[in-house]
Amino acid sequence: MSSIPVIAIDGPTASGKGTVAQRVAARLGYHYLDSGALYRLAALSALRGGASLADETAVAIQARAMTVRFAGERIFLGEDEVSNAIRAEEVGNSASRIAALPAVRQALYDLQLGFRQAPGLVADGRDMATVIFPDAALKVFLTASVEARAQRRYKQLIEKGFSASMADLLKDLAERDARDTNRAVAPLRPAEGAHLLDTSDMTADQAVDQVLNWYAGRAS
Ligand code: DC
Repeated sequence: MSSIPVIAIDGPTASGKGTVAQRVAARLGYHYLDSGALYRLAALSALRGGASLADETAVAIQARAMTVRFAGERIFLGEDEVSNAIRAEEVGNSASRIAALPAVRQALYDLQLGFRQAPGLVADGRDMATVIFPDAALKVFLTASVEARAQRRYKQLIEKGFSASMADLLKDLAERDARDTNRAVAPLRPAEGAHLLDTSDMTADQAVDQVLNWYAGRAS
């Protein structure tokens, strides 16, 4: 077991966990893992490689073969910058589909462990506290109402130059929640001992302060 501390932040899509996790990492000088980006990269890789998303073996092979690089906010797949491409709703939905395939989750397992580097890591996703880093020093389960999440996702997409409709987003979010929560492997659920944080009526900075307070006050 590693002595490098991990803060695991899990939650549903568009709950704000990415923003909160990134800011917590910056405040502590820790590394940051956006595990959802890895599933999005695997989905994009499969789509670009012409693999059928239902073909578990083919998608897992693509996932193992991909070369990913994170440079601050920028994300590269091979030589291509895909920072915006992976945020498209189509890629998000495909990511949620392939994330239900055990061989794909296995293919991304070691890649995720590799992000655990000194002085520490803040990791966000669906199974950070339950599967990937069960020995995390702090486990947080972040939620927000479906309406608050749709608003945030709408703003995010418009800022990135995508078109979006609130009605479609609400439907997409509900479908994605159901798929991420009901799948057989690594379903979305709070880990034992996780702190629950509902951010519907909170700013990102209030949520960051709460996480940092829990971390400072953790039993060590
Ligand atoms: O957090 P996100 O919306 O970028 O994640 C995209 C999809 O990837 C999400 O619908 C489910 C999947 N995912 C997962 O299964 N496990 C993770 N640790 C992170 C994401």
